[in-house]
Amino acid sequence: MALQTAPPHLGSQRTLAHGSLLLLLLCLEKACPPGREAQVVDENLFFYEEWELEACMDGALLATQMRQVNRIPFTYQQLHIFKRKLDEVVQGSARLPQRGRPRCPSHGGGPHGPFPRKFYPQGYPQSLIEHLSYFFLYVTPEDIHKWNVTSLDTVKSLLKVSQGRGVDAQVAALIARYVGGGGELDKAALDTLATFRPAYLCVLRPEQLGSVQLSVLWMTTPQDLGACSSLQMAVLYHKARTAFQNVSGSEYFTRIEPFLGGASTEDLRAFTWQNISIDAAAFKKLPTEAVLSLTVAEVQKLLGPNLVGLKAEAGNMPLRDWISRQSQEDLDRLGLGLVGGVPNGYLVLDLHSREASSGGPHCLGRGPGPVLTVTASLLLVSVLS
Ligand SMILES: *[C@@H]1O[C@H](CO)[C@@H](O)[C@H](O)[C@H]1NC(C)=O
Ligand SMILES: *[C@@H]1O[C@H](CO)[C@@H](O)[C@H](O)[C@H]1NC(C)=O
Ligand SMILES: *[C@@H]1O[C@H](CO)[C@@H](O)[C@H](O)[C@H]1NC(C)=O
Repeated sequence: MALQTAPPHLGSQRTLAHGSLLLLLLCLEKACPPGREAQVVDENLFFYEEWELEACMDGALLATQMRQVNRIPFTYQQLHIFKRKLDEVVQGSARLPQRGRPRCPSHGGGPHGPFPRKFYPQGYPQSLIEHLSYFFLYVTPEDIHKWNVTSLDTVKSLLKVSQGRGVDAQVAALIARYVGGGGELDKAALDTLATFRPAYLCVLRPEQLGSVQLSVLWMTTPQDLGACSSLQMAVLYHKARTAFQNVSGSEYFTRIEPFLGGASTEDLRAFTWQNISIDAAAFKKLPTEAVLSLTVAEVQKLLGPNLVGLKAEAGNMPLRDWISRQSQEDLDRLGLGLVGGVPNGYLVLDLHSREASSGGPHCLGRGPGPVLTVTASLLLVSVLS
């Protein structure tokens, strides 16, 4: 009650005073004292207070003297200020006075020395990236995704400074930019990469994945594989199989499970020989192509005691398509109540092998293909009429 009846102008006066104080603080924060403008990156800057660095440092100067930045043991806080200054140049926002802040009376265009003002709206230029060194630990994956990285030496030097620093996302972004630009990684680079969390796997081309160390597979988590294509998964599955050779049974299955998206029909058949039963959750992740060629008996063996779990997946891929290709009689034998198979007495047409065989020149003129098609059409016609 008392608050509500208080005279309103008191509140606005307070806001006004608050605003002036804020303006004063902002101006104090921004103005570089005369003679303190940074002309060169040297040890003197180490003794600057943070607000002074903020006010007296120029991003364009930093961009040209990155080697010096890395030579001097600046503090974490100072380096963060440098990063911000550099970003102002990179994003082209340094020219904007005060970025929406109130204008300070005695403050002009900013503390700019004799350096030509450059802007890098496309991201850091190669000349800067080459000399980033430890400053790489302060850039974000978003920064890196704008870069053009064409030098393997640069990649290697940045990998070196990143080791043990927990910048796996930055490393993945760097590799993505380099490989995306057509860059090749040599064995030394791949060996160094093997010391990072493999968040970079899905940016490597299949042939590059082939050269990845087996130890990497032991560190790989399902998240690392989220963006991989089926081609990449196929390479990784085969590497994983080799990598996990020294474990068996349920441990083997736990290890290989994240890679199942790369398994072929033959790989799945091999599971049934090894008495490895996959569960319905894992079945869901199998490539449709690999599942479609399995017989009912093979699927039964593949799931073993987990077969009952399949019922819940009947409407989902890859099971839905697989069911539609099986004879209903075979499906009935599973005792799961799966429906949607081919009714008894109808031909099960394997469209894939028919397409494949009609595509091969040596099969031209062979009888069964066209005859099968005709039979199927006749059956369809008789069903419809
Ligand atoms: C990267 O390369 C592209 C295409 O060549 C170019 O348009 C872009 O400006 C380059 N970016 C940088 C930061 O050099
Ligand atoms: C199998 O090999 C990997 C890497 O070579 C090792 O980390 C793991 O402990 C080994 N496991 C067994 C059961 O030998
Ligand atoms: C698979 O299981 C069957 C039946 O339990 C057994 O006879 C066979 O030896 C097992 N095969 C392997 C490779 O463990």
